[in-house]
Formats: sequence, structure tokens, C-alpha cells
Amino acid sequence: MNLGEKVGYIVDEVDTARFTFVSDRQRYPPRHEYLVIPGVKEREGEEFREVDVLAQVTRLVNYSELVSQQLSLRELEVLISRYPTDPKVYGEAKILGYLDENGDVKLPRSAAVPGQELFIAPSSLLEEFFSEDPENCIEIGRLITRPDVPVRIHPNGFRRHVAVIAQTGAGKSYLVGLILEKLLPMGATIIVFDPNSDYVRLKLDKDGNKTDIADFVTVYRPPGVKGRRFSDEEIGGAESYTINFSSLEREDMFSLFGIPDKWVRIRDAIETALDNLHGIYQPSDLYRELEEMAQNNDGDAQRALPYVRRVMDFPIWGSKDIPIEELIKPRKLSVIDLAGLQRDIMQYILERTLREAWNKATSGELEYPLFIVMEEAHNYASKKNKSRASDIIKRIASEGRKFKVFLILVTQRPGKVDDDVLSQCNSQIIMRITNPVDMQAVRNSVEALSQDLFEDLPGLNKGEAIIVGELTKTPAMVKVTGRISAEGGSDIDVVEALKAAKKAAETLDAASTSIEEIREGETRSEW
Ligand SMILES: Nc1ncnc2c1ncn2[C@@H]1O[C@H](COP(=O)(O)OP(=O)(O)OP(=O)(O)O)[C@@H](O)[C@H]1O
Ligand SMILES: [Mg+2]
Repeated sequence: MNLGEKVGYIVDEVDTARFTFVSDRQRYPPRHEYLVIPGVKEREGEEFREVDVLAQVTRLVNYSELVSQQLSLRELEVLISRYPTDPKVYGEAKILGYLDENGDVKLPRSAAVPGQELFIAPSSLLEEFFSEDPENCIEIGRLITRPDVPVRIHPNGFRRHVAVIAQTGAGKSYLVGLILEKLLPMGATIIVFDPNSDYVRLKLDKDGNKTDIADFVTVYRPPGVKGRRFSDEEIGGAESYTINFSSLEREDMFSLFGIPDKWVRIRDAIETALDNLHGIYQPSDLYRELEEMAQNNDGDAQRALPYVRRVMDFPIWGSKDIPIEELIKPRKLSVIDLAGLQRDIMQYILERTLREAWNKATSGELEYPLFIVMEEAHNYASKKNKSRASDIIKRIASEGRKFKVFLILVTQRPGKVDDDVLSQCNSQIIMRITNPVDMQAVRNSVEALSQDLFEDLPGLNKGEAIIVGELTKTPAMVKVTGRISAEGGSDIDVVEALKAAKKAAETLDAASTSIEEIREGETRSEW
């Protein structure tokens, strides 16, 4: 190995997890820089083996005994003008491990010795740690402190479910889009539940040209939703996503209506109306039936009307359902665009799709790995408010891996996600978090997150992530780059948007001034 620049020496007490080093103002390694301690004697039984141990700087300190806080300002000024005050530099680093003969990361069981030389880790060594096999792994960016070193994640890390956690605007959807872009051509079956239309533009790049994955992506959209951010043409086409109301179980109907078990008479009225409907029918047909009953003085039918009316307005009803078989084809990414739908129907779609996929998986009919992306996971797997989908999500979180069903949960509010679900995610990608409640939730659920990484969370910039768990050999700090497809939910430029608003307001003002002038002219001519 060609060692990098020498930065100093290990000093004081050294253990197998961390050490202190002395450097100087010219050569000191910045915080987060990777270091190597070459030739540490690692004891294996009776044998000793020399290994190169990788470490990372966690703290850096400049200090001076001369220029101290005990002095007055006047004394300091005299001192500084007469003597050189070159501060001393020391730092602390944590041990990341060494590579064994199989290329796996091992934590040393022997400590380095004080007085040992310390070097900047060469990129070739870092690549062995962070840039796994380019054939089978997914490149998601570069090491934050070493942009020449690619970071690749191993798809086997998805076996333990993945949680992507960060506050809003940190770059979660950008990153998940990038992962999907690479996982899909490898053969993955992916279903994305997309409440904010963040993934609807995967078929096009930023210039509007077709991406390589375009033919494998289907965006499903309920046809009745108005005022979408991107039209079907702007996303390269969409399939209609409808639900056949008449195919629903009666319990599901009542649950959507929001009519509890104990309202027996209203339920009975609806049952009677349903018994009169045949073939394919819509909530509007049920409404008409109940209206007729109400006109014949059926008070319960009358009371049922507003509940059915609300569901009738959901923009989702049609004459066919999307069969689950269509969504679980290999090398297919299905984005279910839930934006603009009422919460109850979003929950219903999620629960029903998961239930059907799970039935396929547990009956041995799911041939290929299925990845399920759930944005806003705190809404579906909420700690406090049990949702319609909670049970099936918990089930998949605890047993999914045995049946090739893998969750990718995305959340801004880890503190609100059901603990059982979050703790089943053994691979985590964590981006910027500053809210103390959410930081604590991350702390509690992510065992592999060390104290120093935890303390780094608020300091991360947009697009920077800490990866822990089974996606990488050792925790990685990565600047996410390389997304090809366009984003659905990128930040708007407020200055540009305000300019457009100002222009529109001025045009409106001008138009109303000229209308007033015309009116004034008309009034004058009436005189
Ligand atoms: N790695 C990156 N490189 C460049 N730009 C990025 C990166 N990650 C995110 N961005 C930009 O930052 C903005 C926010 O990113 P994104 O929508 O992915 O955040 P988010 O964490 O999903 O937020 P929310 O929780 O609100 O959905 C977007 O405009 C996106 O283009
Ligand atoms: Mg997002």
C-alpha cells in the first residue's frame, strides 16, 4: 500500500476503539478525514498478523499553554507581540477496522501502540472499504471528505428493510429516486406509494428526454384528481388507476364510509340498498338507491346519505381494479401517485396493495424480490394512531424478509413511526436532522449509530447522508450524487415564483385600470 501523507503520531492511552494523536498546524487532518495506522500487530491465537487499520478523525483541537484565559487582555497583547504563539494540535480518532482476507471489515482486537506513525488513508484503501463490487452494487455518491472515492451500497442490505430518515428538504426523495434508478435495471420489482408525486418523473431526465429505465416504469394515477403539478404528458404518460367499488368487501365499504359496527340501522339500510345493486356499480349508484329509500320515508337511509356522498366524491372509482399480478412483474417499477387523494382512500390503497402482495408472497406466488417504497411512513405506520395499514406493515416488517418482500421506509418524523416497524429496519440512511425529538428517536432505534455519528446529524448539508447497517461494510458518510431522472418534488425557487406573481399582479392591475377607464368613459358618455 502506498501510504498517504504522514500527519503525526499516536500518543497517550490507545484502545481498540479510539486513540489520540499529535499533529501540527501544517499537516493536521481535518475532522472526518480517514487515517491509516499501518502494520498494527493483530493477534490471532498464537500467531501475529500485521494489518492496516482504518480510522476516522472525530475531534481536532488547537491549544496553547502560553496564550491562556488566565491572562488579561493587556498581558496577552504584550505576549503575542513578543513571542511566537504557534498552537499545538492534537486530535482524536475512532477505529473503523481492517479488511480480512475475504475483504470483510473486522474490528481489531489488539490496540496500536503509542508512538506509532499515522498517515492519511490512501484512496485505494478507502475504495476497498466503501466502493464494493461495481457490477453488483449501487453507486450513490462519494465520501463527503474524499470526493474521489465512490460509495456503493450492497443490495443485500435491503434484506433487512431500509429506513431513510431526515428532516424535510434534506434529500431523501432525491436519494431514493437514485437508488430505484439503479435497482430497477438489475431486475427489481418495485412498488412506490407516492403521496406527493415525488417519483412521477422517473421516465424523463431533467431535459425531458426519455431515461434508460423509462420502459420499465409505470405511473398509475387516479383519473379524477384535478390540479396536478405535472400533467400526464409532462411525465411521459400514465396509466389510469381505478378501484371497482363493487369489488370491495362490505366491511371495507363501511370502513371507508366511516360507519362503525354499532350503527346497526344505518348499516342495515346500506346493506338493503347494496342488495338491490347488481353487476358493476359505483358509490353514486348506491347513493341513488339510498335516496329512493329516503324518499319512501326510510330515515336510516336518509342518515346514510352524507357518508356515502363523501366517498362518492373520491376521484378513484372506475369499472376495474389494477390486479396485483400487474404490479409484481420482474423489472417493473410501479409508482402509485396518491397526491390529491383523501387520506382514507390513500390508506385503503396502501393496505389493499400490501395485503394482496403479501398473500402472493406467503402462498409462494411471488417469484422475485419485491421492494416497497413507502414515503411519509409515519402516516401509515404511526406509533400513536393505528391506521388501517398498520397491521400489514408490521407483519411485513417482521416477516417480509423470509418471503422476499423488502420495505424502504422514508420518513421526516422517526419519532412518530411505530417502534416495532422502525426497529425492524436494520439498514438506515440518515440525513440532516436537527429536531431533538427525532434525533432521540433515531438514537433509540438505530443501534449501529455511534455517538459521534449521532452528533454529526445536525451538521450534515443537503444531500449528505450517513449510512449504517448492512448496506455498507462500515458506516459511510456520503455526498449523494448522480441522479439522472427528474424529480417530482424539488424545491421551488421562491424568488423566481415571486417575480412571476408580481408580473401577474401588475398585469391584473393594468387590466383593471383600463376597464375602469372604459367604464368611466362609458359613464361620461351617458351624461
Ligand atoms: N444529493 C443532492 N444533490 C443535489 N440536490 C439535491 C440532493 N438532494 C436533494 N437535493 C435537492 O434538495 C431539494 C430537497 O430534496 P428532496 O425533495 O429529496 O428532500 P426530502 O428530504 O425528500 O424532503 P421532504 O421530506 O420534504 O420530502 C430538492 O430540490 C433536491 O433537488
Ligand atoms: Mg421527499
